Amino acid sequence: MRIGIFGGTYDPVHTGHIETARSVFRELELDKLFMVVAADPPHKHDTNRTPAHLRLKMLEAALEGERGIAASDVEIKRAGKSYTVDTLGVFKRQYRGAELFLIVGGDMLENFPLWRDPKGIMSMAALTAVTRPDSARDMRAIADGIERDFGGRVILSEFTGPDISSTEIRRRMRDAEPINLLCDPAVERFIYTNGLYMPQEITAIRQKLYKRLRRKRLDHTMMTVREAISLAAKHGADPRKARLAAILHDCIKLPNRELLEYCETNGYELSADERANPYLIHSRLGAELAETEFGVTDPEVLNAIRRHTLGQVGMSLLDKIIYVADKIEPSREYEGVAEMREEAYRDIDSAMLLVMKHSADYTAASGRQVNPSTRAVMDWLAECIENKRQSHNDTEENNG
Ligand SMILES: [Fe+2]
Ligand SMILES: [Fe+2]
Repeated sequence: MRIGIFGGTYDPVHTGHIETARSVFRELELDKLFMVVAADPPHKHDTNRTPAHLRLKMLEAALEGERGIAASDVEIKRAGKSYTVDTLGVFKRQYRGAELFLIVGGDMLENFPLWRDPKGIMSMAALTAVTRPDSARDMRAIADGIERDFGGRVILSEFTGPDISSTEIRRRMRDAEPINLLCDPAVERFIYTNGLYMPQEITAIRQKLYKRLRRKRLDHTMMTVREAISLAAKHGADPRKARLAAILHDCIKLPNRELLEYCETNGYELSADERANPYLIHSRLGAELAETEFGVTDPEVLNAIRRHTLGQVGMSLLDKIIYVADKIEPSREYEGVAEMREEAYRDIDSAMLLVMKHSADYTAASGRQVNPSTRAVMDWLAECIENKRQSHNDTEENNG
């Protein structure tokens, strides 16, 4: 049996890690490859590290359905500092007679002599360094030096796949930039729903919401954040405002009875319309609480929260983004949602119109009255779309 061992912090695991594992798996004709999650690697001193059990979960999510490649928790289970030589020992005992390949990034090779017991490592596994074609270093010379000093064999495996780093994913999360092209959708979902890598002020909001909302509602909220950031990037809106509005859009979305109780207890007056349709309360009240309880002062953000249920004639790009993100975020599943998602990344107005039409049809079909303002907003959107089409045609004519 040929077994690969590919350790890493995986904070978080990204497409580059997975592609590297696949590439080495094929090239070395391995039977099995274990991606070992580092618990507390001695060569890094990072106190902000995501807890190991969460990093393991992300890795497992990324590898679901993957043939031959699996996540390993061997270093997490072992108490104390994790040394590669100990990890190899575990696999050596578990798979007697197997040939082991220790897979490391090419940049690790230079420091290899400083690792604990390099000789021991080289006696148990072939050291496989993944190199990039553009590497400035003479990797073979470094590899020869290791073979000479510690014995064993160093294999160089060239990897031409995507050059992604976990650091870049964490930076993007902090700066409200999309990460969907850098990691598996299941990992992305995990990052958002668990509120990983977010700036302190956003984490603090999530923690408050955690106490108030049902888990399902909270997950929907975090996935709306994901979608809003993505739409903001696409359409040129402020991604931080989109993130803030999205995380607070359902901040008081409780089941109807609880919501009415909340209003009663806290002395919030309700209109007749709101009493008849309690779902209308949470957007208005949400905007109020965003200001009073969460300290948001930006009127654009507050408006986006207030308008996310009914929309409004003349609503801003940010308003539309929050409205649409709420209805198309990845955990939403209903007929027609795929088409709306696609449209949302083409034209936000026509996506918004599609979404409004869908919910108006749904409301009518379930025997309830469509809110009178809905028609006006839909007409306004249709007009905006038509105007855009006209001016597009005019430009074409002028250019032609
Ligand atoms: Fe809502
Ligand atoms: Fe929502």
